[in-house]
Amino acid sequence: MHNSISSLYIGLMSGTSLDGVDGVLVELPDVAGAMRLLATAYQPFSPSFRQDAMALQQAGANEIEREALLANTLAEHYAVCVNELLRQAPQVQRQQVRAIGAHGQTIRHRPELGFTRQTNNPALLAELCGIDVIADLRSRDVAAGGQGAPLVPAFHRAVFGAEGETRVVLNIGGISNISILHADGNTSGFDTGPGNVLMDAWIAQHQGKSYDENGSWAALGQIDTGLLASLCDEEFLRQLPPKSTGRDLFRPDWLMQKLANFSSVAAVDVQATLCAFTAVTLADAIYQHAPAANAVYVCGGGAYNARLMQEIARQLQQRGCLASVASTQALGVSPNHVEALAFAWLAQRFTLRLPGNLPEVTGAKGLRILGALYPA
Ligand SMILES: Nc1ncnc2c1ncn2[C@@H]1O[C@H](COP(=O)(O)OP(=O)(O)O)[C@@H](O)[C@H]1O
Ligand SMILES: [Mg+2]
Repeated sequence: MHNSISSLYIGLMSGTSLDGVDGVLVELPDVAGAMRLLATAYQPFSPSFRQDAMALQQAGANEIEREALLANTLAEHYAVCVNELLRQAPQVQRQQVRAIGAHGQTIRHRPELGFTRQTNNPALLAELCGIDVIADLRSRDVAAGGQGAPLVPAFHRAVFGAEGETRVVLNIGGISNISILHADGNTSGFDTGPGNVLMDAWIAQHQGKSYDENGSWAALGQIDTGLLASLCDEEFLRQLPPKSTGRDLFRPDWLMQKLANFSSVAAVDVQATLCAFTAVTLADAIYQHAPAANAVYVCGGGAYNARLMQEIARQLQQRGCLASVASTQALGVSPNHVEALAFAWLAQRFTLRLPGNLPEVTGAKGLRILGALYPA
């Protein structure tokens, strides 16, 4: 198989949770046919990388150099993930991989100011891997007046859409986004607000853990309705789509401000309330934009939070929504592979010079080919 006719792609995703990089090696036929997953890999970030990336979320001294060095470290980390994927698929030669779709690490997301920054050194990644790299997949949509996010709804439509059925896909990473795959073939989507980011920050502060495994800590607490109402009182949640958000808004100090009037609430009850908060924002989004959805499929790390999954189902029932709630595993795709697959798919869209955005989702002026090529 020669490079020019191969349909093998690698997708690399590292999201706002700052947990690590998810990678997939997948066959995506150019014309028709099902995708075939050949390898998956996960490379967690080191605590020092997470700290450096977190520090770049806000203004600080010597930012340019710190960002450039973080980008180098990220590219090296991505290359390790690529090597692991290739090690798992010895039948694949690296020259056969048509492209790597590399998301990069979001350190600022300010579409209202005309930019979004996914730091990365794609030149170094191409140098280390000897494979074409497609990077900076969000900027062109922002240049066309869009939010540059979410980008996954087009992929969700392509793989999870079902004619005659309204399906909702919830991607619960650090931040959450929703894709509504309407029965008539239309697709809508937007960022709904927090996913795991606040729960992760709270358990890190109180128990020194990076996340609440299975939501078991949250499950021990009681929801504080006053605190929940205060969390829900946020302008972003009232905005109509298109909209997107990130750590720029849902930062630790946002949470601290909200908690200032609730200092008597026990830490475990705060965790239960943060879990409910994410569930409420998701259930509201479904209730407002897809009340008659048949089914809700969840991907991203939040799908592994059993407490959160129960709470989403409960909040939907309370609103009279009858949709079933399951992880994307029910559709044959593991929840932690969906986003990396989406970036492999976006790399394929670029390679075929096909648009990757949905203007009705991002608010861009039109369809755009997303990304920039760093040749092998
Ligand atoms: N077993 C689990 N139980 C509870 N939460 C989990 C579990 N596994 C992952 N998560 C959550 O998912 C997050 C990572 O999700 P991910 O989809 O990678 O998000 P991102 O795209 O923002 O990196 C973790 O930070 C954690 O909060
Ligand atoms: Mg992640």
